[in-house]
Order: sequence, then structure tokens, then C-alpha cells
Amino acid sequence: MKPIKVGLLGIGTVGAGTFTVLKRNAEEISRRAGRRIEITMVADLDVARALALTDGECEVVNDASLIINHPEIDIVIELIGGAGIARTLVLQAIANGKHVVTANKALLALHGNEIFKAAQEKGVIVAFEAAVAGGIPIIKVLRESLTANRIEWVAGIINGTTNFILSEMRDKGIDFTTALSGAMQLGYAEADPTVDIEGIDAGHKATLMASIAFGIPVQFGKAHVEGITKLQSVDIGYAEQLGYRIKLLAIAKRTPLGIELRVHPTLIPTRRLIANVEGAMNAVLVQADAVGATMYYGKGAGAEPTASAVIADLIDISRLFTAQPDHRVPHLAFQPDAMTDTPILPMAEITTSYYLRMHVADQLGVLATVTRILADSDISIDAMLQKEPAGGASETDIIILTHLTQEKCVDAAIARIEALATVIGKVTRIRLEELE
Ligand code: NDP
Ligand code: HSE
Repeated sequence: MKPIKVGLLGIGTVGAGTFTVLKRNAEEISRRAGRRIEITMVADLDVARALALTDGECEVVNDASLIINHPEIDIVIELIGGAGIARTLVLQAIANGKHVVTANKALLALHGNEIFKAAQEKGVIVAFEAAVAGGIPIIKVLRESLTANRIEWVAGIINGTTNFILSEMRDKGIDFTTALSGAMQLGYAEADPTVDIEGIDAGHKATLMASIAFGIPVQFGKAHVEGITKLQSVDIGYAEQLGYRIKLLAIAKRTPLGIELRVHPTLIPTRRLIANVEGAMNAVLVQADAVGATMYYGKGAGAEPTASAVIADLIDISRLFTAQPDHRVPHLAFQPDAMTDTPILPMAEITTSYYLRMHVADQLGVLATVTRILADSDISIDAMLQKEPAGGASETDIIILTHLTQEKCVDAAIARIEALATVIGKVTRIRLEELE
């Protein structure tokens, strides 16, 4: 059968990994796909580097539009990144009737509705397994393997860079900046690593998972996104003493009021498997009504793990080449006319447990006043830790873990606690998930 001709846009970390794996495993891949899959054109701004990587095996150009307008290219792989030129190129490729494979979660979280609509109208596929959790096939799981279920919630460690930083800081005592440059050298971080450390990348991925899990449009603008830059090592230490580990967790949860869509540092009981996911590894826990809890673990970033997902999409498209567009798996799992407008809840309406740390004057009655405020705000206490003041000091830390409560109750209680003359500075609040 005629080989599938592929054009690669961007031969950086993931592009180079894709080129290498596709070449190394060409024989196995063609046995699976039913025909050869060949990268015949590569576009990159750095033509010299691209020529060195491809070693004369395909045509190299510096203008990506030469690929998307080329009549012989069947599938375009977009591995440039970002939501700028990548959006223009992907939309143009779709308009030209080309299938698209992308690892670009930023692009899809911001412009997914427009892109999937265009693809649907044109009868082409936009495949994006690599966009969430790198090499872990979580998109396929949510879109195809768990379709019998009503998915209740999805919780994941889905940013390798931040998980790597937290592990390095906790296990090796390495400071934040050094750990971040390690993640950058290893190719885990985005071109602008702020996107990783501020939780935006995990927010993009959570947005895509929420759409597929619940059949709602892609709505990154309504996600709550908080990164790890404000996390203090004192809280990592207190959490450990209380039997919890702090992870940057992405959560998409169905509730009777709407959908919680949030990314933030989270205390997770140390005994949970997911609390022990370290380094650049990712894990996604899915709670569904029929199957119960299932967990997916693996490399969430890096050249070849991500290439694994990119090439799996290429093979899927090659197998579906002759299928009628109406018989294909919908881009966002649910049929386009069966999407719902279930609201994404504002943070004030979400329900979770909390870790609260306050620095207080070591005086009689302080603790009683704080606990009274919590009780007045309908917040029940699960555990408490009061540190002995350091030798000679007149101030100390109080740490309180709450039971489940609404965020707005905690907002109100924190405002009252911070107004007390005996409470010094701000109350630190970190959300806590038991993941039962
Ligand atoms: P890189 O920055 O390593 O690669 C991007 C490549 O695209 C570079 O070689 C760049 O060239 C090239 N490029 C930039 N603009 C153009 C253009 N207009 N035309 C052609 N080429 C261009 O990024 P990654 O490989 O790390 O990431 C690619 C995508 O994969 C991103 O969307 C990222 O979010 C996603 N991803 C990355 C993962 C990872 O582990 N790295 C994992 C999962 C997803 P130059 O360097 O000269 O600017
Ligand atoms: N920067 C991303 C991460 C790459 O660290 O997880 C994988 O999507």
C-alpha cells in the first residue's frame, strides 16, 4: 500500500524524538499501521540543525507553509508549540484537508473549540495524545477505553517540570532555581518555563481532560490555576509531619452544582500511590462509576516518551484513513451535538479540605479564638499541630487541617483570623485532597 507522507513542523526536543523513534521502529510501525509512515518534509527555523538531525533523509525547509500547502503531504505534525504561529498553521493545514497530530496543549486549551470545529467540518482528524501527560495514553483512556462509565473525577500530576522540582527540593535539598534549570536541561520544561511553574501548563492539560471526561467545550479561561512558586519549604516539612506530601495536582471533578476545574499545590496522604510519583513522572487517577478508580503512570515529558504518543496518533490516523468521518471517534469523546453547557464552578463554590498555617503570638486564648472562628464559619477541624516556640521566642506556628468545606467559608474565616492582633502576617492556605 502507498506510504503515508508526513510533514513535521518543528524539529526541537519532541520533533527530534519523533523522527528518531519513527526511523528506529519503522518496520514494527508499518506492520501495525498496514503501510509505511514516512516523514518526507521537515520545517524548522534552524535549517542547519534540522539538516544535521535528518541526515539527508527528507526535505528540510524553513517555511512551514511549504509543508501545509504541499499536495503530497497527508498528515502534518505540529511540534512548534505556543498558540501563535501554530494556530495559523494548524487551521491552514485543516483547511487544506490534512490530518493533524499535535502535542500542543496550549494551542488546544486556548483554541480547541475553533480547531475541532474546523476539523469536523473538513472531515479531518486532529489527534493530540501527546498533549496531556506525555507518553501516558490518557486521552485514549478517557475518550475510548472508559466510555461505558460516568466519569466522576480525574486528578493528576501532569506537569513533569514542577514534579521534578518538588522532588529535587524535598529529596536532595536542592533550591528551586537549581532544580528548575535541571528540568530545563533535561528538556522537560516549556520554552517559557513560567508556563510550567505557574501551573498554566497543567491547567491547559486539565482543561482538555475535563472536556473529554464530561463532554463540555474547552474552557481554559474558567480554570483556576495556581503554581508552585509561592510554596514554602516550611509547609512541605509540616505536611510530611502530618502524613501528607505536597504535589501540584490538577483536578477535574463533577459535582451536583457544576464542574470543579483547578490546578494548585495540594496535600495528598503519603500512603496514596499518587503521592509517591516522583521526578518528571506523571500519574493520572480516574474515578468512574463502573470501573471504580484506575491510575495511569509513566513519563510525562521528554523526547522519546512524547514521541511515543505522537507516533501512536500517526498510526491511528493511518488506520482510519479510509474510514468515513462520521464513523470516527469524536475529537472530544462526545458527539459534537451532544456536548453540554454544565458550568465550571468559581473557586468560592468548590469543596475540599484545607491545610492552614498561621504564625501567632504565644499567648493564652489564641488557639481558642482561632477554633471559634472556624466553628462560626462551619469549618470542622480534622487535625492540629502547635509547635513549641523556638528557644526564647514568643511566637509560634499553628497548623490546622480541616474536614471538607466550601472555599468561601475558608475565605471568610481567614479574613477574620488575619484581623486578630495575635496573628502575625498572612495565613497560608493549601488545599488537601484525600483522593478516596
Ligand atoms: P522545542 O522548542 O524544543 O521545539 C520547537 C521547534 O520548533 C524548535 O526547533 C523551533 O526552532 C521550531 N520552530 C519555532 N518556530 C517555528 C516555525 N515558525 N516554523 C518551523 N519551526 C519552528 O519544543 P518541544 O519539542 O519541547 O515542544 C514542542 C511541543 O510539544 C510544544 O507544544 C510542547 O508544549 C509540546 N510538548 C513538549 C514536551 C516535552 O517534553 N518537551 C512533552 C509534551 C508536549 P528554533 O529552536 O530555531 O526556534
Ligand atoms: N513542560 C511539560 C512538563 C512538558 O513539564 O510536563 C510535557 O507536557
